[in-house]
Amino acid sequence: MYRLTGKRILLGVTGGIAAYKTAVLLRLLQKNGADVQVVMTRGATEFVTPLTFQALSGKVVHTELLDLETESAMGHIELARWADVILIAPASANFIARVANGYADDLLSTLCLAADVPILVAPAMNQQMWLNAATQENLEKLKTRGVVILGPAEGDQACGENGPGRMLEADELALLTAKTFETNILTGSRILVTAGPTREAIDPVRYISNRSSGKMGYAVAMAALEAGADVSLISGPVNLPEPERVKVTNVSSAAEMHSAVMQKISDTDIFISAAAVADYSLETISQQKIKKSSDSFELKLKKNPDILLEVAALQSAPFSVGFAAETENLESNAQLKLRSKKLDMIAANLVGDNAGFDVDTNAMTVFWKTGQKQLQQAPKNRLARNLISLIADQYNGKNTNKTH
Ligand code: PMT
Repeated sequence: MYRLTGKRILLGVTGGIAAYKTAVLLRLLQKNGADVQVVMTRGATEFVTPLTFQALSGKVVHTELLDLETESAMGHIELARWADVILIAPASANFIARVANGYADDLLSTLCLAADVPILVAPAMNQQMWLNAATQENLEKLKTRGVVILGPAEGDQACGENGPGRMLEADELALLTAKTFETNILTGSRILVTAGPTREAIDPVRYISNRSSGKMGYAVAMAALEAGADVSLISGPVNLPEPERVKVTNVSSAAEMHSAVMQKISDTDIFISAAAVADYSLETISQQKIKKSSDSFELKLKKNPDILLEVAALQSAPFSVGFAAETENLESNAQLKLRSKKLDMIAANLVGDNAGFDVDTNAMTVFWKTGQKQLQQAPKNRLARNLISLIADQYNGKNTNKTH
């Protein structure tokens, strides 16, 4: 079992006999929940046909840098932005040399230059080629740039020789790929996340709500889990699968969310309030379905408790992170919420038509007392990882200061 649910893996295949093992690797990654796109170099297609990977992945296999058809479906920059990780298996000596020297003369090498995500390289080559000083220098160059080299293993080689240069087996590569997502920057901390909308009942069949899908909050919960935290999630009504290993409490109204949060808050080190909690609810909920009668109709609303404000005001308040959903004056409104709610951090995002709510990508600026950081438009899971990393920096810094 490898923890790859929802991870977007760009699987690069270069020219080498070990490419046949990559078909097994592809299946394994997919079986464990990863979304995989395959990119092959021309050399790779000499060993295994794109059709093999296409049939296994159920997706078009990308081979050309400038191909009108595939560029219009998913261009090379879009492909680079799509991935959470690039895994190249097998990586030939030639491909390693080209990436080490910054070449962008085919699709896969271009993606390696254009992507801002971890790159994992599983070399496979003749043992003498592996031991050659040129290859070793190229590998050193890649390592200093943060590229992770997986393997190789030693043993019998397809060429009849014996030594280092065999590609790691598919299960080892899947395991090591899953491990790259486990940052452990918040190991041992207890994190409580809220996500999704709340529903404020009007009568037994109607309610007031908002467009939150829960995607952002669920991504934050997953990223907290990858950071090694013990994660609880209080979720409004959403259509998302429950994340594995996260304790989920489902609620509907703001009042229910308020009481679920308050029940857990004394066991919480970090509270992240990503839910779009309704500010108001009905003063009186009709027991029966309200009948259509007059031409106009008024609903009387009362203010809901501000959960985040209450949590951050507690005497032993956890490290409190809010979100600010704004349609204008993003920075000033977010800074005001940071100060007035006495938060440790706030993640401000613009919402409106096709932004923030109910879409797969988002962008945000994160503010804290002494700094701020802009997180560019990206899939919500990647953004969540960046947010968790900022939270870990501030939280770990604050706790270090406390103990000294
Ligand atoms: O769910 P998605 O479709 O992925 O969309 C993500 C999102 C846009 C909902 C998310 O990124 C986001 O911005 N969540 C906060 C939405 C919100 O209610 O913002 P606000 O500016 O109205 O509230 C400020 C903060 O106070 C928020 O952290 C909110 O959770 C909290 N709050 C608000 C009202 C209330 N009664 N209690 C609260 O705790």
